[in-house]
Amino acid sequence: MNGAPVLAVDGPGGAGKGTLCRRVAERLGWRLLDSGALYRLVALAAGRAGVALDDEAGLAVLARDLPVRFSGEQVLLDGEDVSEGIRTERCGDEASQVAQLPGVRTALVGLQRGFRRPPGLVADGRDMGTVIFPDAEMKVFLTAAAEERARRRYKQLKEKGFDVSLSGLTAEIAHRDRRDAERAEAPLRPAPDACVIDSTDMDIDEVVGVVLDEMARRQLMRQE
Ligand code: DC
Repeated sequence: MNGAPVLAVDGPGGAGKGTLCRRVAERLGWRLLDSGALYRLVALAAGRAGVALDDEAGLAVLARDLPVRFSGEQVLLDGEDVSEGIRTERCGDEASQVAQLPGVRTALVGLQRGFRRPPGLVADGRDMGTVIFPDAEMKVFLTAAAEERARRRYKQLKEKGFDVSLSGLTAEIAHRDRRDAERAEAPLRPAPDACVIDSTDMDIDEVVGVVLDEMARRQLMRQE
């Protein structure tokens, strides 16, 4: 499975993983895997194909042959740009439902591991360090208090012009956290060898700095 170094970044939604991973990948010139987008795509594809969100076998078939392509910032499903469509709260909630199903998770393993190519991979998700890349050269578990994550999400969505309420988002985040942490298959938890970073009182520049320093210390930044 080895071949290229992996930075595995896991943690709950809204902790800043997406920004951290983009910044580190850009800085190092490494590839980026947004694994959450894959679960969102399965949910979106299911809606379009008329497959129910609890039809594990049907969803697994969709997941195994997901016609996805990542092109820079764009996510293409069957050639169609769905970058915006997969970012809605509804799609996130549906993604969290399909992510409960072992058949769906198994169907996505090969696709995810295929992203590991030179010069390296930054993998963003919930089970990158525990299940998909257990031998990752470095693992980070990035977390933040639920209220702070809700506040960040609220700001982000408001800036995009969405009409959302802070209390609604807080409740939704708490609900999704519970579902992701309590599921039987690949529950959200830090790998035993992960560096746990609590970003509640840190800005993203500090988080990026801490991760890059640690990667430099482990001499990961020189493996080009
Ligand atoms: O990170 P995100 O919000 O795009 O993820 C959407 C959902 O997918 C989230 O509820 C948890 C799930 N997920 C997962 O179970 N495993 C992953 N590796 C990534 C995401």
